[in-house]
Amino acid sequence: MADIDDIKEGKDFGVDVPVETKPFPVRGSNALDWGMQDRLARIFQKKSNNTVMLAFDHGYFQGPATGLERLDLTIRPLAEYTDVLMCTRGGLRATMPADIRKPVVLRCSGGMSVLTELSNELVAVDIEDAIRLNASAITTNVYVGAEYEHQSLANLVKLIDTGNRYGIPTMAVTGVGKDMARDQRYFSLATRICAELGAHIVKSYFIEEGFEKVVAGCPVPIVIAGGKKLPEMDALTMAYKAIDQGAHGVDMGRNIFQSDSPVGMIKAIRAIVHDGEKPEKAFELYEAEKASA
Ligand code: 5RP
Repeated sequence: MADIDDIKEGKDFGVDVPVETKPFPVRGSNALDWGMQDRLARIFQKKSNNTVMLAFDHGYFQGPATGLERLDLTIRPLAEYTDVLMCTRGGLRATMPADIRKPVVLRCSGGMSVLTELSNELVAVDIEDAIRLNASAITTNVYVGAEYEHQSLANLVKLIDTGNRYGIPTMAVTGVGKDMARDQRYFSLATRICAELGAHIVKSYFIEEGFEKVVAGCPVPIVIAGGKKLPEMDALTMAYKAIDQGAHGVDMGRNIFQSDSPVGMIKAIRAIVHDGEKPEKAFELYEAEKASA
């Protein structure tokens, strides 16, 4: 029963104090509803407006890749260092404790394997299951220019529309078809198509020539995948250049969990993404962690 005793009429209305209306800091998301912004704010950190996503969804099409043979052994120890878990529902439920207290970007596509055509994907997670898992975002691959381009774009649209219905943002992953040139023209096309269709985040790849144009032409945040395993210094330099040219973070897997010091590598990546450290300084952090292990 509401307590109606001792109600005191309001008296301090701050009539001389304007109402503060700060823009929502995540690029292109200022017009989104509260729930969408809340989920994006869990992904992009207040300190830098960037994010470190640890990607371990690879098994959904390539099986137990190197470093992902036992997610409980290799990924769980890294969870405390990442901002976000980027994974499948199977990997999450089967190996990550619910009290891991990390936002999840949920891989919601699948239906193909390394043995067939990678662009032939379907939406592989019902939106109700993404809600059940409290996903902070949902994601699917888009293969512009590949054999199943239209199908992959239709998958993206389905994810965006169902995610919008429940206040869950969508991250589009620009998968690169085997015949695609990884150049500025291609990634500008692919990332912009995803953003125009309504994706709230786009994961793409860093390129040495013209990455800043790819970022400038995409009205929502771009995060970069790490791609195949590189020497640690090269991966750190790539991450630094991407952030310096406007990326809002990384969604990195192999260059972290296949490193000889995964903890050292994710600490080094965080220093670049959130603290603006140069690759050389970040590499020192990696080396120090490796030496201390
Ligand atoms: C695999 C993916 C990965 O999430 C993405 O490629 C990031 O992982 P990596 O840094 O290993 O490339 O989409 O399908």
